[in-house]
Amino acid sequence: MHGQSGPRVDVHLPPDVLAQSLRDDVRHGLDRAPRELPPKWFYDERGCDLFDEITRLPEYYPTRREREILAREAAAIVRLTGADTLVELGSGTSEKTRLLLDAMTAAGALRRIVAFDVSEPTIRLAVTALAREYPGTEVHGVVGDFDHHLGLLPTGGRRLVAFLGSTIGNLRPAQRKRFLADAASQMAPGESFLLGTDLVKDAARLEAAYDDAAGVTAAFNRNVLTVLNRELGADFDVTQFDHSARFDAAEEWIELGLRSRKAQTVHIPDPGLTIELAAGETVVTEISAKFRRRSVEAELAGAGLRPAEWWTDEGGDFGLSLSFAG
Ligand code: AVJ
Repeated sequence: MHGQSGPRVDVHLPPDVLAQSLRDDVRHGLDRAPRELPPKWFYDERGCDLFDEITRLPEYYPTRREREILAREAAAIVRLTGADTLVELGSGTSEKTRLLLDAMTAAGALRRIVAFDVSEPTIRLAVTALAREYPGTEVHGVVGDFDHHLGLLPTGGRRLVAFLGSTIGNLRPAQRKRFLADAASQMAPGESFLLGTDLVKDAARLEAAYDDAAGVTAAFNRNVLTVLNRELGADFDVTQFDHSARFDAAEEWIELGLRSRKAQTVHIPDPGLTIELAAGETVVTEISAKFRRRSVEAELAGAGLRPAEWWTDEGGDFGLSLSFAG
């Protein structure tokens, strides 16, 4: 590293492995009905910028509401957990984590920060900034995905594992169950899990949060086709897809899709796929599950965690739960 030893970064997902998993996801997701792409492919550089912009939209309340809860409860969280290590899952660029880190610093508790994300550039930026902002704290980056690399998180110290932003909502119930069980199984007794969950509410508000007037979410959604064009040489005409966001009241999740405006053929040379899309056919690009306190606590308990605290914002839009291992 040119003589400078920056923070340690473990890369479990090098570019070639990532590229292969994109090909696999495309082959398995697009060559069947209903067609589906996993949301992790939204987040190239432009996708991360667009998501950042989403978090500031008037319609997209979750980020602000979660920040409101964290600002209010950060000191209590630090006290209740006794943590000296913050592990952030799916960290992104997260400024919300700063609220926890600052509270740990104020309590004289902060020893170590572990940032885990699927994107290597994101992790490198995050650890560099964190090492600068929290001098004297050990900063450790891990590039991996939730399906394969949770077990490779560094152990030691007393860890608070934070999974914020309701990112858990991207997982379907069976995946969620496995994720929580995996996370719980690698935590030592007394270690804690802080989970952010967007709550079930009126469908109109939910749908507006995922279909904003400025069209930022639509651009974010369509960007996944640009990623496929660039990474796999696909020939999606992004102007021929409409953004859709629908609250499925039975499943209690938002389903994001890209609806083909006409019958069209798309070629994806890398896995060698030709896809015939019917007019009006939708590719599902994301589900974003909405939660209730009872179900969150039942799922945590089912994974072997002990729910201890439940906080919401004033309006009851968003839930933050703290649970303990062991
Ligand atoms: C980052 C997965 C929590 O589901 O609300 C925002 C992503 N997608 N607008 C969410 C997202 C469209 C977001 N998560």
